[in-house]
Amino acid sequence: MSSIFRFFGQRLPRFKYNAFIRHHYDNSSITNFPTKSPIKEEYFDNLTKDKAFRQVLDDINKVLSSASINDSLRKIEEYEEDNPYVRKSPAAIFGTKRIGWVILPDWLNEAVLEIVKEHDKEMIKHDANRIYQSLRSTTGYDPKFDVDFKDPIMGPCKSARNAFKRFVLENEVKPHVLEYGTREAMAYIAGYLPISYGPIFNVLTELKSRIPDFSPQSVMDFGTGPGTAIWVSHNIWDKHVPNFLGIDISESMLRTAEKLLSFQPKEDRIKNIEFKRYLSYEPHQLKHDLVISAFTLNELPNDNIRETVLESLWNRTNDLLVLIENGTPAGFKIIAEARKRILNINKQNNEVESTIDNLEDEIKSITKHGAHVVAPCPHDGICPLVKSRNWCHFSQRINRPLYLMQTKNVKNHNFEDSKYCYVILRKGQRPKLLTEFTSTNADKPSDNKRDLTVEAYHWSRLVMPPMKRSAHVVLDYCYIERGIIPKSQGKVPYRDARKSIWGDLFPHEPKKPAVRRHAPQYIEQVDVKSKEKDKVRIPSGQRSSKKINNKKREA
Ligand SMILES: C[S@@+](CC[C@H](N)C(=O)[O-])C[C@H]1O[C@@H](n2cnc3c(N)ncnc32)[C@H](O)[C@@H]1O
Repeated sequence: MSSIFRFFGQRLPRFKYNAFIRHHYDNSSITNFPTKSPIKEEYFDNLTKDKAFRQVLDDINKVLSSASINDSLRKIEEYEEDNPYVRKSPAAIFGTKRIGWVILPDWLNEAVLEIVKEHDKEMIKHDANRIYQSLRSTTGYDPKFDVDFKDPIMGPCKSARNAFKRFVLENEVKPHVLEYGTREAMAYIAGYLPISYGPIFNVLTELKSRIPDFSPQSVMDFGTGPGTAIWVSHNIWDKHVPNFLGIDISESMLRTAEKLLSFQPKEDRIKNIEFKRYLSYEPHQLKHDLVISAFTLNELPNDNIRETVLESLWNRTNDLLVLIENGTPAGFKIIAEARKRILNINKQNNEVESTIDNLEDEIKSITKHGAHVVAPCPHDGICPLVKSRNWCHFSQRINRPLYLMQTKNVKNHNFEDSKYCYVILRKGQRPKLLTEFTSTNADKPSDNKRDLTVEAYHWSRLVMPPMKRSAHVVLDYCYIERGIIPKSQGKVPYRDARKSIWGDLFPHEPKKPAVRRHAPQYIEQVDVKSKEKDKVRIPSGQRSSKKINNKKREA
């Protein structure tokens, strides 16, 4: 029996196998599978041809025929509770970015279909192509982008340098920015809305789980387009956000967002929502708990305007600012610069405020003016990837609705991986650990969620897909270290490493010191903990040679 659960535990997310079992014994339609396309049946036909899968079906039949379906499901849960190590540790579950496929709400898909049906399909395809080309034009490396050719992991790399030069020469195109008129707005919802919805959904899901007490009373979406981030926030905070403000320079986009709003089911409809064309720069504007800018900063004409808009967005938030861009080197550059800018503004403000005599006032002013990164970075220092040929980006799989498949002219791929870069910035100081976080207490993480929410600020982020090898897993994480988790490190860390995915926060430190190629430079003063961390992580070979050198010098 255990083989079945292990099979499912490893290959299928829980909701899928529960749905599968239910479907198997209750002939109703499969509602939990993330697809509405005709591929669904084909997919199952192919699955049932698979010998291993048929074997598992037989095993399930044997188990389920001896008990009622509810009993079986209860047994599965009991089994999992008795064997906690079969699944990830609570800390690893807390730190994961895995949310499965993102599917647009039914009402939104239906609304898009309804709106685009009045328009010529060929024209929509043509216009969507222009949007893709405009996005593609920003994917190339910016030749001005200061890159040194030392791979953070592998060291200086000649072939990478040549490939890079060729790439720049071949792709030196100036980004062209679109103006969104009626045709572009139609093409955007038919050809891009689900692709931007997925990453925003992932980022806001992470935000919600990292800061569970946060429930925004007002959300501002800058460059709202068809209202994408508004629909996501409404979904994520379970229709509890009372006020929304969407800002977009394009009248057609705003009209499209309003049309989409009219399709929202009456019982769930957002009551207080306002759409505006301009972001006001007045300093005493109404502030919002959450300010989002998704896929918009790259549309601004130059760096100066981007900086002004960014400062204005930071001033307009009471608490959190979320920036999302395309997962390209250009997108990463925008995010890295925005992150640096906000942390710098707040550092300057802190310096001015530090002349305050009263300690209480000082603490208040720091809380008001300080800033820290909630995600993806486990630190508030300078991004170590900025001067490398890698860029910090992540991927979210989305379900392509039929209209998107038609717009893209694809017949048999009902999913797509949407790449993105992001940063979540919060006002105030970075939460500090009350007790020193060590790999030993990570193995036995506290069940108290509050502890995990603070600990998670100090876990490493996997910035590349883990390499799962025989009896060990190689992990690349921020601050550009390569660590190895061998089987001998213990069941929990090894299991967590095997199940980890690109983008996860990983709660364990490798048994052997990780190899660090880039030391982080801190904007803020380096705290004692990270100094300690630095000491621990000097590769053992280097450490011994340093000792020898010191001894020689002393002699
Ligand atoms: C790529 S779309 C992104 C739309 C939406 N945020 C999403 O994720 O689906 C960029 C949007 O930014 C808007 N935009 C461009 N420049 C702007 C500006 N200066 N102020 C406000 N909106 C702007 C465009 O009109 C467009 O709707």
